[in-house]
Amino acid sequence: VDLAPGHKRGLLLRNPVMPASGTFSWGFEFEHHFGPEGIRRLGAVVSKGVTMEPRAGNRQPRVAETPAGMLNSIGLQNVGIEACVRDLAPQWARWETPVIVNVAGDTIDEFGEMARMLDGVPGVAALELNISCPNVDTGGMEIGQSVEASARATSAAVRNTDLPVIVKLTPNVTDPVALARACEAEGAAAICAINTVLGMAIDVDRRRPVLPRARGGLSGPAIKPIALRIVYDVAGAVRIPVIGCGGIATSRDALEFLMAGASAVQVGTATFANPRALLDVVEGLEAWCAAEGVARIADIIGCARPAPV
Ligand code: DOR
Repeated sequence: VDLAPGHKRGLLLRNPVMPASGTFSWGFEFEHHFGPEGIRRLGAVVSKGVTMEPRAGNRQPRVAETPAGMLNSIGLQNVGIEACVRDLAPQWARWETPVIVNVAGDTIDEFGEMARMLDGVPGVAALELNISCPNVDTGGMEIGQSVEASARATSAAVRNTDLPVIVKLTPNVTDPVALARACEAEGAAAICAINTVLGMAIDVDRRRPVLPRARGGLSGPAIKPIALRIVYDVAGAVRIPVIGCGGIATSRDALEFLMAGASAVQVGTATFANPRALLDVVEGLEAWCAAEGVARIADIIGCARPAPV
């Protein structure tokens, strides 16, 4: 799959499976467990969100398990963009698998600034603009809930880099299609849908929200139908590729997203219960394609959609 067809550099993946940002750290634990050949099995690697300055993240506890999925309020804990360029990118450059860096600006200008800092850095194949983090007071959803601000953040990044720019949408809006269209118009190479859904949990014994910030981002099985609906709607409204993310744990989940119109999928929360989840999805897709006589994934993308009239 090419996630940036027509873009000057393109973003060619050997398969459509990659981790969801934040659930994979910088990729080195996975490499440690599954070796370089494990990394080589993935379509791409997606980094944790990187901010201009290093961040310690929100107060603990920052994760709450619910039967429907996981709530997180990490608050973009990360090493900052300078350490990313200096220490992480040279290690990514060892891999043949493309690395997509998730970039979280505090302001629209920061998105432009960070895109400039990552431009031409060996080991960085593309950017994923995180305009959708629900756990920070500035940037994040503040940008991603506004069509105008989303368009400006996209434009700021696209103007400052030759790298393909993927925009990751928040589901916490009434009209994700309008956001996707605005980002496409500003030169986004692809759309990723979705980031986490705002939710909360209460500790009945303490009579307090479990998370100090009360709200957090819900991920996992509960949000799969939401993500699938948004991917279906967005894929029908834009010409650029759509990456599906939200509750994908198995190859059959991945197939639902591909059939809805996604060109690739991200696996996140599932990896906590099953560290092999990404590899299982890759292998499951290969087995399904072989059994069904599907030669290329492209042949099933959007196949569940009504035929164009
Ligand atoms: O749910 C999320 N949590 N989405 C993000 O984009 C960032 C992350 C965090 O660090 O809070």
